[in-house]
Amino acid sequence: MSADYKVHGDVAVITLNNPPVNGLGLSTRQAIVAGVEQALADPAVKALVVTGHGKAFSGGADIREFGTPKAIQEPNLLSVISVLENSSKPVVAAVHSVAMGGGLELALGCHYRIAAPGANIALPEVKIGLIPGAGGTQRLPRALGVEPALNMIVSGEAIKSEMLAMLPGQKLFDQMAASPESLMDEALTLARQMADVRPLPKVRDLPCKHPQGDAYFQFARNMVKGMAKNYPAPPKCVDAVEAATKKKFADGMTYERELFINLMWTPECRALRHLFTAQRAASKIADVPDTTPVRNIQSVAIIGAGTMGGGIAMNFLNAGLPVKLLETKQEALDRGIATIQKNYEAQVKKGKLKEDKYAQRMALLSTTLSYNDLKDADLVIEAVFEEMGVKEAVFKQLDAVMKPGAVLASNTSTLDVNAIANFTQRPQDVVGMHFFSPANVMKLLEVVRGEKTAKDVLATVMAVAKKIKKTAVVSGVCDGFIGNRMIEQYGRQAGFLLEEGCTPQQVDKAVEKFGFAMGPFRMGDLAGNDIGWAIRKRRYVEKPQMKYSKTADLLCEMGRFGQKVGKGWYDYQVGKRDAIPNKEVEAMVVQHRASLGITARKISDEEIVQRLVYSLVNEAAHILEEGIAAKASDIDMVYITGYGFPIYRGGPMLYADQMGLFNVVQAMHRFAANPLDDAEFWKPAPLLARLAAEGKTFN
Ligand code: NAI
Repeated sequence: MSADYKVHGDVAVITLNNPPVNGLGLSTRQAIVAGVEQALADPAVKALVVTGHGKAFSGGADIREFGTPKAIQEPNLLSVISVLENSSKPVVAAVHSVAMGGGLELALGCHYRIAAPGANIALPEVKIGLIPGAGGTQRLPRALGVEPALNMIVSGEAIKSEMLAMLPGQKLFDQMAASPESLMDEALTLARQMADVRPLPKVRDLPCKHPQGDAYFQFARNMVKGMAKNYPAPPKCVDAVEAATKKKFADGMTYERELFINLMWTPECRALRHLFTAQRAASKIADVPDTTPVRNIQSVAIIGAGTMGGGIAMNFLNAGLPVKLLETKQEALDRGIATIQKNYEAQVKKGKLKEDKYAQRMALLSTTLSYNDLKDADLVIEAVFEEMGVKEAVFKQLDAVMKPGAVLASNTSTLDVNAIANFTQRPQDVVGMHFFSPANVMKLLEVVRGEKTAKDVLATVMAVAKKIKKTAVVSGVCDGFIGNRMIEQYGRQAGFLLEEGCTPQQVDKAVEKFGFAMGPFRMGDLAGNDIGWAIRKRRYVEKPQMKYSKTADLLCEMGRFGQKVGKGWYDYQVGKRDAIPNKEVEAMVVQHRASLGITARKISDEEIVQRLVYSLVNEAAHILEEGIAAKASDIDMVYITGYGFPIYRGGPMLYADQMGLFNVVQAMHRFAANPLDDAEFWKPAPLLARLAAEGKTFN
């Protein structure tokens, strides 16, 4: 049973016991109902208290049951709440630590609520594309007031219990406990005081009105529309709360249910739920169990204080870990420190960082020119020039000085991590930590698992990633790892689109309308067009048979490397990021097209998007089949957190699944038949072809 039942004198206490957060899974729901039945049948029991064991009252639905029949099996949450609400003996919810989603809805079904200070209270369903589905939209406005309730439901954000208790007229908490420690005693006292009260108060019977009525809801609707244009759930939150003010309780409940079920089937909800589980799944590695011991990381060394080294350092300083930066020259160290200071000062200026915090962080940072000073660091991350010779020299020195057991990581974006590991006598301690630029901002961290990387090193790096608030995804060793290997194909396809008739603006606009943060050409300008150029030059030698558009090379020959030089596919004004179309670039594209004898054709936005997204999908299928990525959802996480793929589409793999892999393959056959495209490019990866033929999906 996932709840304990115990009688304290004349009060029965039901304690949810389903670690880690007392999720309301089937066995917990059954245990609550059984507890209530037992208490009602026992004449010695006058009242009940419901609370949660450990670190939560209840975190809501049990995510392990998501999408399984258990999630809706009776007693479902609505039935459990109804059992509590209709209990003939008073039920007190003793809320502490966390009461979220279904957990809060459960408490709202009790007759009385007492809360410990510091508890996080939320209805976060909107974050997975839903509205609360067990009465939250009908009961919370009655208990808390319409406006604060709607704010909580639309934002999904948690608010501390003591803040809510201060709202005038609120009936969410009948009482605040003096402290978390005294909560249970106070809850028992409250239960005894209320033992003889009849009729028992129910939140559903409270009045629910907003003084401005329609005007308020119109205003709320406009606000929400502006903020959440690609998400259907937030406006439905408004509809549901409005219903609480206009309909009878039972009708409001029916309406909430209808909205909930309709949302459940939207692609946006599916995408958000997918990412919610994908995020958790990404931190799990099949052959590295959660019980794997991790190495203690208390101090960090970083080699190279350039663009990446400085950003990487900030992550650790922000997390309170001391960082030592090593460079070959004092000037380089000074430059690196100045950049870090500039970044922090910008945050202070915007009010995002307090002066004292800034000082604390800088105090954790030290520099050196000597490897000897690094020897005690627990983790060292190399971020020097992307040349194998330089990496070799660095790793040989690290091998010579670092203490045994130190984790040696490389931030390389293209080089072979196995080869780097083999420069040392301890390849088991070597791993790739591929940060994304700007490293202090971007959420993604690709953890590159070498063939000899030890399991505890992997577990350690995953734990470190969590500490510095990154989304870590494990990648095998290959050129470009998961993200950049896919983006190379996307870039190639973007080049073909220019040759056939598109302008850079047209491509970017289509992709941005699809929901990407940035189209491929604006992204190239941001990352630096010279980086792609260098990679292509290598490819021309390694893979001479591979077809590339030369347009991007011509752009680089014009010196248009991107934002850093004020000009790329677009022009940029100093200090601004607005992309301004440039006539010379347009002329170059037209001229190059003419030199190939191509007559421009009008290409639809739909074709642009399909060609670009499916080029990601096809490469991803190779990556999955080769085992470079362990699961399709990992690839989705990479694209959502590192490449600005629209969240509400759930990542390239889920998008392809939603389109239907059969349709994806059909489209690829059509593109392959276009003589200006590349038939080889559009050959479906074997895994994709197989899944499509079998009517299956990636996820
Ligand atoms: P950068 O050129 O800005 O910085 C490299 C720094 O390393 C310079 O400050 C240089 O003085 C220093 N350095 C060079 N040789 C050294 C040595 N032997 N010992 C100590 N310091 C040395 O380069 P960036 O962009 O920071 O790249 C560094 C690494 O990060 C490369 O491996 C790159 O592929 C990778 N990377 C770069 C990304 C980017 O967007 N710039 C993204 C992800 C990875």
